[in-house]
Amino acid sequence: MNPAPAFVNWADGALQAPGLQRSEKKLGQLTGIFRDHQAWQKLDPETIVYRVWWWEPVASGTAGGLFWGLTEIQPGRVGNEYFMTRGHWHVIRNRAEFYGTVAGSGKLVLMDRTGHTWAEDMAPGSLHYIAGEVAHRIVNTGDKPIRVIACWPSDAGHDYEVAEGRGFGARILEERGAPILVNAQD
Ligand code: PA5
Ligand code: NI
Repeated sequence: MNPAPAFVNWADGALQAPGLQRSEKKLGQLTGIFRDHQAWQKLDPETIVYRVWWWEPVASGTAGGLFWGLTEIQPGRVGNEYFMTRGHWHVIRNRAEFYGTVAGSGKLVLMDRTGHTWAEDMAPGSLHYIAGEVAHRIVNTGDKPIRVIACWPSDAGHDYEVAEGRGFGARILEERGAPILVNAQD
């Protein structure tokens, strides 16, 4: 059975779909994600960092299907590190994904299997093809929420080992009012 169409407000990415799923991540849930642990501890753990809404038109794990989602990350920083998503690999590593920026500005941090890490600029209209085998994380470097639509395979899955384990090879930090990519060891 083909699912009925859903609705996207292309001006802000808002999604209306049957059975729309949602999750939110507060600062207190993002243990070990930010570099400055002391700065993180001083902030209100109830602060919402990001929300995700997504539509699963087929069952999770279905081979050959697709999901659609919207991520909204609030502006803010922990120390000099901008608010961002945890970031992940796909459980099925070769699964690719599209991200498209609807509003706000940021950086898409990408890491290949060797640990090589780089970033792409995100601004309204930017469309990012995330290849398989590439871990991905969205960083809000602006002063208003960044809203990003995503489309990914329904059997991709999310593996947060990169967020909870050794981490990305580089971070986006604010230096003299501007975002820069800094190697994780620095
Ligand atoms: O599927 C995706 O890649 C996105 O919908 C992300 O899950 C979303 O941006 C939230 O990021 P994370 O899953 O890394 O917490
Ligand atoms: Ni993904």
